[in-house]
Amino acid sequence: MKKQKKLVVGNWKMNPQSLEEAKKLATSVKRAMRGIKKTNVVLCPPFIYLSSLSSSAGNSFFLGAQNANYEALGPFTGEVSFSELSQFKVDYVILGHSERRKMGESDELINKKIRAVVGGGMTAIICVGESVRDINGDFYNFIKQQITSALKDVSKKLLDQIVIAYEPIWAIGASAPVSPAELCEMSIFIKKVLKDLCGAFSGGIKVIYGGDADKVNADILVRDGNVSGLLVGRESLRAKDFIEIIKLVDAI
Ligand code: 13P
Repeated sequence: MKKQKKLVVGNWKMNPQSLEEAKKLATSVKRAMRGIKKTNVVLCPPFIYLSSLSSSAGNSFFLGAQNANYEALGPFTGEVSFSELSQFKVDYVILGHSERRKMGESDELINKKIRAVVGGGMTAIICVGESVRDINGDFYNFIKQQITSALKDVSKKLLDQIVIAYEPIWAIGASAPVSPAELCEMSIFIKKVLKDLCGAFSGGIKVIYGGDADKVNADILVRDGNVSGLLVGRESLRAKDFIEIIKLVDAI
């Protein structure tokens, strides 16, 4: 069987300050992609930069959005719909990020967005993650519940358009990631949950990791953590470091 490609996603969050910087960052990544063979790279800038970056996307890196409304169009002030995104060559959408859950997004709303995004032909990068790790391991149930609710009524035929990003909230923006051993356990657990939920169709779903991923820990997290790639925040804003991460993952 052909080996699945790895995935490195840059979540730029509400950065950078200017379109000029955004273009520069994307151009650097695009140039570096010439030598990358086994890894798909996704850049997720703020909405306002998507149209300018879409001409560069496709052949080298993919473009992703950081959110999408599940309605195709209508009176939703300040929102951007899943169907509007497709004209800018957006192939991925990050959904359920803890920073958006904190702003009030419920499991139910996230599920609606996921169904709209995959129904619209894009891939949903679904973020799950606990805020604390209790010694009883209850956080495992929490992750199971987040995944179960995210995938409710998602057509089995569309499951290869799903990526699960395990992002423990305590590791986001922090100075240390999860340990590779703990990540490996969580990855096995998530794959088991997916198998129970989706049966044989679960094989198409990638599991990646996010939370203080950098060029020092990228290799060991992916290799020993048993994941297919990384969702990178801060380090995706520094071209040199992000490219280093891509190269390290591609070499695995
Ligand atoms: P950091 O890589 O800055 O910890 O952010 C992780 C994240 O939230 C990616 O979505």
